[in-house]
Amino acid sequence: MIKIEKITKVFGEQKVLNELDLYVEDKKTLVIIGRSGCGKSVLLKHMTGLIKPDSGSIYFRGKDITKLDESELDPIRVKSGMLFQGAALFDSLTVAENVGFALSRFTKKSPEEIAGIVSEKLALVGLDGVESKKPAELSGGMKKRVGLARAIAMDPEVIFYDEPTTGLDPIMADVINDLILDLKRKLRITGVVVTHDMKSAYKIGDKIAMMYEGKIIELGSPEEIQNTKDPVVRQFISGSAVGPIHVLG
Ligand SMILES: Nc1ncnc2c1ncn2[C@@H]1O[C@H](COP(=O)(O)OP(=O)(O)OP(=O)(O)O)[C@@H](O)[C@H]1O
Ligand SMILES: [Mg+2]
Repeated sequence: MIKIEKITKVFGEQKVLNELDLYVEDKKTLVIIGRSGCGKSVLLKHMTGLIKPDSGSIYFRGKDITKLDESELDPIRVKSGMLFQGAALFDSLTVAENVGFALSRFTKKSPEEIAGIVSEKLALVGLDGVESKKPAELSGGMKKRVGLARAIAMDPEVIFYDEPTTGLDPIMADVINDLILDLKRKLRITGVVVTHDMKSAYKIGDKIAMMYEGKIIELGSPEEIQNTKDPVVRQFISGSAVGPIHVLG
């Protein structure tokens, strides 16, 4: 579904992605783990065409999206949903306007049809009666769910989730994990999930990829990752301050 070949991205002095390779399988959930600041969000933004690499290619169903301009990216964006880190809702818009944003922009559906789809997607994430609220009136967990409803509004083939459970209580985190599993099982949506929450990673990931120093250093099933021999991966998944990873600086 998505194939990343040797992408490099430098910000100032910092090489965030260093000839990184990665493959996302169709209708599966790939979880990307790695330390804060290692470039997970940057990698996700490359996959959606929001950031272009300095070099390398990103194939979405065989088409290299690094070669496309903004208008050519639109049809691909329509096929993908994104749940941004911190939900990133439009504060001045209501919940309904947020969830229906792409539907109003990219389709010719009537306001009534859009309202119907919006309510249906909100029900899927366990919310109702919040259509006219503003994001500021919602809790963190509700915002994430509204962000998820917005991500699935256009019935995407793939959803990119940036830290979908971070900052939520353990029960709400599990509700979101179950939703992600449901979207894969029932709607057969491909998922790419960035998280540092290992409990979520093991639960929802078909494969887990560990990012470190600009590359994917290991990719395997949750079981393979749990039994890793790589000292860097082992240190990360066990959350230890002692090991080969430089903890400070
Ligand atoms: N638009 C940008 N311009 C310059 N530097 C950036 C930009 N976006 C990200 N960076 C830098 O790239 C690095 C990786 O950032 P990124 O947000 O991808 O980290 P992350 O792995 O998602 O971290 P976290 O787990 O804390 O969300 C950081 O050092 C960040 O400062
Ligand atoms: Mg991030």
